[in-house]
Amino acid sequence: MEVIVIQGQSRLQGRVTISGSKNAVLPVLAACLLTEEECYLEDIPRLVDVDTMGGVIGEMGCSIYPEGVNGLRINAGSLRSVEPPYEYVRRMRASFLVMGPLLGRIGRVKISLPGGCAIGARPIDLHLKGMAALGASIKVSKGYVEAEATRLKGASIYLDYPSVGATENIMMAAALAEGTTVIENAAGEPEIVDLANLINNMGGHVTGAGTRVIKIEGVKKLHGARHAVIPDRIEAATFMIAAAATGGDVFLENVIPPHLKAVMAKLSETGASLQEEDSGIRVRADLPLKAVDIKTMPYPGFPTDMQAQFMALLTTARGSSVITETVFENRFMHVNELKRMGANIVIEGHCAVVKGRKSLSGAKVKATDLRAGAALVIAGLMAEGETVISCVNHIDRGYENIVGKMQALGANIKRVPALKHAAF
Ligand code: EPZ
Repeated sequence: MEVIVIQGQSRLQGRVTISGSKNAVLPVLAACLLTEEECYLEDIPRLVDVDTMGGVIGEMGCSIYPEGVNGLRINAGSLRSVEPPYEYVRRMRASFLVMGPLLGRIGRVKISLPGGCAIGARPIDLHLKGMAALGASIKVSKGYVEAEATRLKGASIYLDYPSVGATENIMMAAALAEGTTVIENAAGEPEIVDLANLINNMGGHVTGAGTRVIKIEGVKKLHGARHAVIPDRIEAATFMIAAAATGGDVFLENVIPPHLKAVMAKLSETGASLQEEDSGIRVRADLPLKAVDIKTMPYPGFPTDMQAQFMALLTTARGSSVITETVFENRFMHVNELKRMGANIVIEGHCAVVKGRKSLSGAKVKATDLRAGAALVIAGLMAEGETVISCVNHIDRGYENIVGKMQALGANIKRVPALKHAAF
């Protein structure tokens, strides 16, 4: 086990290159199951979650291996099982995204119900509603979902909530269904558009991705394709927030500004200055920043995946901020850890009221989930003194080399074995 050790109060300065998007590459990897031909993916981030999804695909008999700098070559022609291993599905909820492709191409899937996680129950009712609407017969028993269909048939599906995963699963299943599928109240995240682009490059017919109504004309077969995943807007936002929270001056490369409108607007409200340039975005700030209110919403609203990181910034802003989390029922696990660093935060139902303090103090804290961990890195960079973050495995799921990237921006941050650190 390792810990991340940070000596705080360094202003981040310099340039950072953002990696490919975790939340784009996971459904894109699942989509490679839609064809028996080879796919080549580029700009793949080095993340634990990518390894897990690669394990799911490999365990089902597909060939998957790295090629080039950040490339992956996948061939699902050798698929020999429709039962992704429980061990992987238990570890990562996104494994459930293989359901749609397996149902669409093979007509059968047996997959364990994904567990809940720290941030919520994470039900899959909308996924199953979509598959049933496409004609699959579904049985849920002993913690497993078994679904089968001779050939899926296009349907009109209304999502009670614009679920990202359900939209992705249904879109992939519908790509090989007979006839037309319309998803109403679909999720509109950029990762949905990226997935639709891959499906279309494979010979599919998806229109409307990025809006609340997506139409999919099913085809008989899909062929292999080459695809570069979009940059990770959540990693980008994390670095933008860290730059502002430390009063720094950072230029981010490999970003798509339209994907970051909500967090850019909110950072500007705090008094940070943002400049869009050809190849990226520059973020500068003088401390203290101003308090702002945040309400998380489905895209293009303020993303729930940026809530914890922004809360860290607001702990030393001037004034009080109200943060309302509307997407997940329990996404304030980072509050107790931030309070250990001196933050003044009161939770009232789905809201957290953050009263800005002059500064945070370093402390021993625990990452409870991926974005909470990122928030603690930001808080550690802001705090006086030393912060030690344990359970960094959560952070490794979604951030490629966050310590190295922060060091390159001047942060006094390192990873050391947990036991070694305890000896200090
Ligand atoms: C995706 O998760 C992301 N993960 C999450 O990012 C992100 O927080 C989330 O979308 C919301 O933007 C990936 O893309 C791999 P949802 P997903 O289905 O698809 C409810 C990160 O930090 N719901 O849009 O699981 C659900 O309970 C991760 O990178 C149902 O009720 O999210 C939640 O309240 C964390 N029934 C809401 O919808 C369902 O069948 C949003 O969930 C499905 C979802």
